[in-house]
Amino acid sequence: MGFASKFRLIVFSFLIFPWSPLVHADSQGHLPGIQSKTIEELIEMTEPEGGEAREKASLLQKGKKTYLQFCVHCHGEHGQGKGQTSPYLYPLPRDVTLGIFKFRSTPGNALPRDEDLYRTLRDGVPGTAMPAWGDILNERTLRALVEFIKTFSDRFQLESPDFIMPIGLEPAFDRLSVEKGKLLYQELRCGHCHGEHGGREGSLEQELNDAWGNPSKVYDLRRTELYKGGASSDEVYQTLVTGMDGTPMNAYDYVSEDELWHLVHYLQSSYDHQVPDSVKMSETIFSLRVSDNLTASPEAVVWEKAPKTQVKLRALQSLNSGFSGLTVQSLFNDQKIAFRLQWLDTSPNRAEPGGSRFLDGVALQFAPGSAIYSTYYGMGEQNKPVNIWHWRADSNQKVVGKHIVPQPTALDPFREQAVEELNAAGFGTLTVQSLEDQQVEGKGMWQDGRWTVVFVRELDTGSSFDAHFEKVGQKLIAVALWDGALKEKNAHKRVSFWQELKFK
Ligand code: HEC
Ligand code: HEC
Repeated sequence: MGFASKFRLIVFSFLIFPWSPLVHADSQGHLPGIQSKTIEELIEMTEPEGGEAREKASLLQKGKKTYLQFCVHCHGEHGQGKGQTSPYLYPLPRDVTLGIFKFRSTPGNALPRDEDLYRTLRDGVPGTAMPAWGDILNERTLRALVEFIKTFSDRFQLESPDFIMPIGLEPAFDRLSVEKGKLLYQELRCGHCHGEHGGREGSLEQELNDAWGNPSKVYDLRRTELYKGGASSDEVYQTLVTGMDGTPMNAYDYVSEDELWHLVHYLQSSYDHQVPDSVKMSETIFSLRVSDNLTASPEAVVWEKAPKTQVKLRALQSLNSGFSGLTVQSLFNDQKIAFRLQWLDTSPNRAEPGGSRFLDGVALQFAPGSAIYSTYYGMGEQNKPVNIWHWRADSNQKVVGKHIVPQPTALDPFREQAVEELNAAGFGTLTVQSLEDQQVEGKGMWQDGRWTVVFVRELDTGSSFDAHFEKVGQKLIAVALWDGALKEKNAHKRVSFWQELKFK
């Protein structure tokens, strides 16, 4: 083989498997030698000193194991933010090796306290792909992760976190305070970055790239669900007084306490007052056994029996996150299993002549195992492929109600179904199953601001590429959603974490 063809082969295999295989714990929970030397050194250093040190060492081991199960796909093996999913995300997963953190109770440029990191892990970062881990991991595991995250940056060995910036008592939230806040907003030139009323969205000038070399983006400060550090009074005060390190959002610690409160009130006076939802990142979906016939009809009355579960979604590329949840139902009988998904969408985006290339769509994804760490929720892992059922709003999907559209044309004249069955073993490895293996039926219907989509399949297909439902008490299921109106397509989508599917 000549040099040129060898080179091509390398390039080619890189395209197919752009990421190195991920690392997994073996059956005893031992991990192969990951090169995070600091943690091994730390464990060794602390070993002989007994009680407390042993506790720390075991905490670090636990942190490392959990990190490799849940964080490595985004933050990468060495904490540099280069996981297999990273190319598809905005904002990018953090490179934690610099030891710079946005969410702190400590002064600008200081290290965060353990409590700060703990809170970030527990609550996630709203408006980004960073999930709220407190929904599925217990306190000890989160504390272990905090310890482990700190091993990625030398800063934690060299410095200690500073004092907590005090947050004073909040004065009255009245018109005077809001007016003073508005003036301060102008005087301090907040609008230079955030726009006159705080509603600006998008990238800032290149000189304002963040510490990680990426463009800095601002988001609509009137939308409470986008506040990464939280939108309550104390939380916004903390963001203003401590700043978001690594970004152009500086600490306004030279502004008086009263003035900071006025600014907080001014921002709050234009909040859109969206109520935060209480849905957890992982819920249980119950599939109910019925004797009725199961068909791909979104309107079938049998669905009235099925319990509804709200599923939380997160945008992989934030900024226009729109709504964030949908409802899932499931039914099964002796032969078939069916799912029905419903979500709000003010305009249906179907394939139609002269219409947009961006179609509404929804997908169900099934894991090979039943434990939430058995494979990565973002399209699986090498050797641990997931099965995906993908519905797209082609022209055959019924639209009823207040929406005038031109006569639709078929999306793909050779496809009878709006649903396609696929497999994936990591981002970028999506493969459509052959025509004879396409066994999922599906149909969608949009009516008065809501999509209803049904998927139906035989319980047992006999194919090893397909999700199995026979004789299993429990499965894992995840949802992805594309809103054509927001120009979502391919990896630009919203996803849920694994949800448990139980049979009743
Ligand atoms: C789906 C991708 C994804 C996964 C999985 C993920 N993160 Fe993140 N994480 C992000 C993104 C994106 C950000 C950056 C948000 C920002 O900069 O606004 C982030 C930020 C962080 C930060 C920085 C917080 C700060 O104060 O600046 C820490 C620490 C962190 N993640 C830890 C973790 C840990 C620990 C796990 C595993 C339990 C994890 N992440 C899993 C995407 C992810
Ligand atoms: C030089 C540009 C710049 C200026 C000036 C600026 N900000 Fe920001 N601000 C940003 C950027 C960039 C972000 C987003 C950082 C990120 O998410 O990484 C941000 C984020 C915020 C947030 C969101 C916090 C959260 O929890 O997500 C608030 C609130 C905010 N700024 C208020 C203000 C106020 C009030 C002022 C004036 C006192 C101000 N900003 C001045 C660039 C700026």
